[in-house]
Amino acid sequence: MQKGKLLYEGKAKKLYETGDSDLLIAEFKDDLTAFNAEKRGSEKGKGALNCQISTQLFRLLEQNGIETHLVETLDENHQLVKKVRIIPIEVVVRNTATGSLSKRLGIEDGKKLPFVLVEFYLKDDDLGDPIICDDHAMLLELVDRRETLEELKRLGRKINEVLKAFFAERRLNLIDFKVEFGVDKAGNILLSDEISPDSCRFWDMDTGEKMDKDRFRQNLGNVKVAYEEVLKRILEEKQ
Ligand code: TMP
Repeated sequence: MQKGKLLYEGKAKKLYETGDSDLLIAEFKDDLTAFNAEKRGSEKGKGALNCQISTQLFRLLEQNGIETHLVETLDENHQLVKKVRIIPIEVVVRNTATGSLSKRLGIEDGKKLPFVLVEFYLKDDDLGDPIICDDHAMLLELVDRRETLEELKRLGRKINEVLKAFFAERRLNLIDFKVEFGVDKAGNILLSDEISPDSCRFWDMDTGEKMDKDRFRQNLGNVKVAYEEVLKRILEEKQ
């Protein structure tokens, strides 16, 4: 499959047309951004690591009944994906308080939450991806039915269940993550975008060390080393 016209360039990926109008090629970039791109950087090989990590996690989720846009991985930083209309909602799922949750509500950083929290953010860089409630999503016509919002929450929790258990076996604590969904031409809701250390927080269960993009956000160094370690642990065979 050949890359056609560049359709879209985001902060971490480029999307290209292909000869098939139902399929796109996603290229994972080495760029890193934080705080709505106020902080920018690049780490050679980061795109390839995220492509491999996301491929593994999407396959795991497919095996657990979550439909995704992934068709196949073409090379180290390209995936062939189904063309979808992205629902402009960032679904954030949290097990432990940190980041914007601790900042906004004053919940102690590192406090385990009494239940899994699912939040919606409007995917709009110009507005700084504000947090929204269900009524805002309906008002902005981000989805046409409230049931779709319930489905996004259900999918977020199911993804969390699968990933949390998978990473716990690998001594990584899944703190929180962000996922995006798209709708294909048949109307199916597919997990889209990526799941990687750019979009998740992982804390090492033994050392408490951060193994994700917070290393970049907080200038902790060794960003790529952490992403490599996450991939290594994902690839570990478990009984
Ligand atoms: P937050 O604590 O900054 O709201 O982040 C929650 C989770 O969502 C965290 O795992 C990082 C991820 N995330 C993204 O993937 N993209 C974003 O633009 C933001 C703000 C967070």
